[in-house]
Amino acid sequence: MSNIIIFGATSAIARACTRDWIAAGHNLFLVGRNADKLEIMRTDLLARSTQGQVVEIATADLNDFSTHEPLYAKAAEVLGMPDTVLVAHGSLPDQKACEASVDLTMCEIRTNALSVISLATLAANLFEPRREGTIAVIGSVAGDRGRQSNYVYGAAKGMVDIFLQGLRNRLAKASITVLTIKPGFVDTPMTAHIPTKGALWATPNDIGQGIIHAVNHKRDVVYLPWFWRIIMLIIRFIPEAIFKRLSL
Ligand SMILES: NC(=O)c1ccc[n+]([C@@H]2O[C@H](COP(=O)([O-])OP(=O)(O)OC[C@H]3O[C@@H](n4cnc5c(N)ncnc54)[C@H](OP(=O)(O)O)[C@@H]3O)[C@@H](O)[C@H]2O)c1
Repeated sequence: MSNIIIFGATSAIARACTRDWIAAGHNLFLVGRNADKLEIMRTDLLARSTQGQVVEIATADLNDFSTHEPLYAKAAEVLGMPDTVLVAHGSLPDQKACEASVDLTMCEIRTNALSVISLATLAANLFEPRREGTIAVIGSVAGDRGRQSNYVYGAAKGMVDIFLQGLRNRLAKASITVLTIKPGFVDTPMTAHIPTKGALWATPNDIGQGIIHAVNHKRDVVYLPWFWRIIMLIIRFIPEAIFKRLSL
């Protein structure tokens, strides 16, 4: 039985993970900004728990960094020392609106990059002296290359990607796993406004299963589903002189 903190627990992908983790007997500390959604999740997860596990909730807007340290302290108080942290919150910006507003762009960078970096830094400092723990963060394939249709989101996810590379390098000698999760298109509330969903689309459950497998196997970087590794390899190799002319 391990203790797992999930930031952005009400996200569709995180919810899929929680169902597997509760079935596997783990204790959960769920952080989200919507108290009603968290309470519904907690009731559902407690009904599914078979080993009298703890499921606790905390509300916070994760763009307020001053909440981060107290959240870790609260989780340690109610669960005991955490073993795994999953950072799952995020927002898909309106790219055109961001182009017209520096404030909106900075807000999206704060949600998708800076708040994540703050939470990962605190997790690292918690785990490093103990020489154990897993920090899993949901990034995106969008962070692999900037495209005109979503480069604010892509830049934030790319920043997190590079940050986690460095963190992984720092923490390897302390045997701490730093997992970067890179989903492709996933059918969740975040993408509900996109009308046509084709063969490349995955369900939150598919991605949740991939995350659980990657955490259990102490992986470093996973593309989910796996074929995105190949797609992004091709996309990364397109020369910039050609890439800048494509409508992507
Ligand atoms: N869907 C995709 O195609 C896709 C692809 C690649 C990566 N991802 C990433 O996967 C992760 C999960 O997203 P999802 O697809 O599961 O979408 P989702 O269901 O819309 O979840 C997004 C979550 O982020 C939370 N959130 C946003 N801003 C927050 C803030 N300031 N403080 C606290 N919570 C905040 C939302 O809280 P509320 O419930 O209160 O709104 C929601 O729970 C995100 O990091 C996303 O970037 C998604």
